[in-house]
Amino acid sequence: MSTRLPSPPVHLVTRAAELAAALDAARAAGRRVGLVPTMGALHAGHLSLVERARAECDLVAVTVFVNPLQFGERADLEGYPRTLEADLAMCASAGVDVVFAPPVEEMYPAWPAPVATTVRVGGVAEPWEGASRPGHFDGVATIVTKLFALAGRCRAYFGEKDYQQVAVVRRLAGDLCLPVTVVGCPTVREPDGLALSSRNARLGTAERRAATVLHRALDAGRAALEDGERRPTAVADRMTAVVAAEPLARLDYAAAVDPDDLSVPLVLEDGEPVRLLVAARVGEVRLIDNDAAVPVAPRRAAMAGAAAGGATTVEG
Ligand code: PAJ
Repeated sequence: MSTRLPSPPVHLVTRAAELAAALDAARAAGRRVGLVPTMGALHAGHLSLVERARAECDLVAVTVFVNPLQFGERADLEGYPRTLEADLAMCASAGVDVVFAPPVEEMYPAWPAPVATTVRVGGVAEPWEGASRPGHFDGVATIVTKLFALAGRCRAYFGEKDYQQVAVVRRLAGDLCLPVTVVGCPTVREPDGLALSSRNARLGTAERRAATVLHRALDAGRAALEDGERRPTAVADRMTAVVAAEPLARLDYAAAVDPDDLSVPLVLEDGEPVRLLVAARVGEVRLIDNDAAVPVAPRRAAMAGAAAGGATTVEG
């Protein structure tokens, strides 16, 4: 079924073959296709991906599908917000051309019977989220592969909010020779630093206040690097201490990792980029966050501070 809604004027597609046909036709007309995969309940973080896609492509397709394969607990899947009408309105005002919102049977015809063909990514999908949420990345990799197969040659936009997910998707697109350029986009945050997430709506008032602990932990990790700390475990310890001091939060993991393969280096080298990762439950809500950091030698940091008019003292 294909419906062109009178208002908002966004082309809603619910059948896989129709999505493929629409994007094939766009490419045949010389248009560059941008794909933004989502699970709906759209917010400004999702819209930042749409904006980037609009800036770089001629046709933007957003997919809205709550993928049952990537949820561990049934309750989590059933409780996931579904707000298609609002999503369509947001997509329309953001200038999205096509929204693909299939029913579950369209993507998994035998559902709820087990899916026969799945995609498993090794290596980068194994630690951190992979270890904490068994099967999660298999579910993500499977649905993203299917969406890429339907979309064909395109640029696909993913948020660095889910940093490991971007790495997993890059890996699968490369390994499976899919004609998709994976574009990672910066995390959109609330003014107090909390990364936007559909899960934030489930935080109570006190939990919402406590949820800034993830961002504060990342700041502490960066401060440790600025202090000259080069042992990844010691940087992680500084992040862990921040989460431990927040009574409503329970740490899952904190780490300073290689930004490409997400392994923990033996030692962090000056000038070599690092990614700081943190995951914690705040009340019952599991949140993740991450940020980039580059350890800079104290002398260079001091000189940069002096050049900027800062009061940093020179050491070493
Ligand atoms: P979902 O959680 O809906 O997120 C869709 C995309 O929006 C992801 O690429 C995610 O990283 C990005 N995003 C979410 N919050 C963001 C923020 N605050 N700033 C920037 N980008 C943000 O991630 C998924 O869905 C699914 O796993 C999916 C890839 C669609 C596969 O089912």
